[in-house]
Amino acid sequence: MSGIRSTGFLHLGNYFGAIRNYVRMQEEYDCYFMVADLHTLTTHPDTTELKTNVHRVLAEYIACGLDPEKSALYCQSHLRETAELYLYLNMLAYTGELEKTTTFKDKVRQHPDNVNAGLLTYPVLMAADILLQRARFVPVGKDQEQHLEMARNFAKRFNHRYGKDGEVFPEPQAFNFGEQLVKVPSLDDSGKMSKSENQNAAIFLSDSDDQIRNKLKKAKTDSGPTEPDTPMPGYIENIFQLLRLVSAPDVVEKFEGDYKSANIRYGDLKKQLGEDMVSFIRPIREKAEAIRNDEAYLRRIMEMGAEKARRNAGITMEKVRAAMGLQYY
Ligand code: TRP
Repeated sequence: MSGIRSTGFLHLGNYFGAIRNYVRMQEEYDCYFMVADLHTLTTHPDTTELKTNVHRVLAEYIACGLDPEKSALYCQSHLRETAELYLYLNMLAYTGELEKTTTFKDKVRQHPDNVNAGLLTYPVLMAADILLQRARFVPVGKDQEQHLEMARNFAKRFNHRYGKDGEVFPEPQAFNFGEQLVKVPSLDDSGKMSKSENQNAAIFLSDSDDQIRNKLKKAKTDSGPTEPDTPMPGYIENIFQLLRLVSAPDVVEKFEGDYKSANIRYGDLKKQLGEDMVSFIRPIREKAEAIRNDEAYLRRIMEMGAEKARRNAGITMEKVRAAMGLQYY
C-alpha cells in the first residue's frame, strides 16, 4: 500500500523514487495505491484545484504503468473507514511523539499561521491508510521513513492493547526491490528533485518536449576537466545520474569515457540527455493527457479501486471493533 499527496505535479523523482517500484510490485503483490487528497488539506485548505489535481495524479499513475485491473487505484476520501480508524488511532498516539515529528516541525516553521491539529496528526492519518489495508509492505522514499516507523508503533500499540485474540495489524515495513534507493538530483544542485522548490530544477511528467530540453540545457556545467581522471564535481555527477536513468548503457559509457579522458563536450552531453529525457517522458505525458480528458474512464477506475479497497477496509474494521470491544449486541 502506498500513496502520493495530490499537491503539485509529479516529477522524475516521484517516478524513480516511488512509482517505478509500485509498477513492479503489482506483478507480485495484492496492491493498494491511493491519491492522498485528505492529507493535502492539512496544508492546502483551498480545494479549488483539488479535483484537477486528483485526476492528474491518477492519470499519471496509470500512464506510468499502474494497471487498475491488477492494483486498487483509489482516492483516500472515498474510504470513510479511514476517518473511523484515524479516530481510534488518535487515542493511541501521544501528543509528545507527534510534536517531535520532523515533518511537523518543518511545517510549523513554514506555516506558523496554520498549525492545525490535522497537521499534528498527519502521521496518524497516514497510519490509518496503511493499517486499514493491513499492509505489510509500503514502498516509500526516505522522506517518509519516520512516518512509517510511527505507523509501525501504532500497529504494535494497538495489537498490544487490544489484540488479545491475535494481532489485528501486521507491522508495515518499507519496501523497495532490493536495489539501492535511487536519489534523483535536482537540476540546480540543491539536493533531491522536489515539487515545491525551484520549478526549473525539476522535470515534471507533464513537461513539454521543449520545456525538458530547455531545463537540461540550463543545467549547471563548467569548462570541463583539463586533466584525465579528474574527480567529478557534484553538479556534473548529477547530470550523469540522470543520464544513467534514461539513456542507453553505451551512451552512458561513451560520455563517462569522454570525461575520464578529459575530452568531454558538455553541450553534447546535455543535448543527448535532453533527447533521451524527451523520449522517456513524452509517452507518459501523452498517455496521461488522454486519460485526463476521459473523465468517464477516471470515474470508473476510482469507483472500481474504492470498491476493492473498501471491501478490504470493511474486514479490517470488523476486526478492529471486535478487538476493541465496541460491540454491544
Ligand atoms: N505522506 C505521504 C507523502 O507525503 C503520502 C501518504 C499518505 C502515504 N498516506 C500514505 C504514503 C500511506 C504511503 C502510505 O508522500
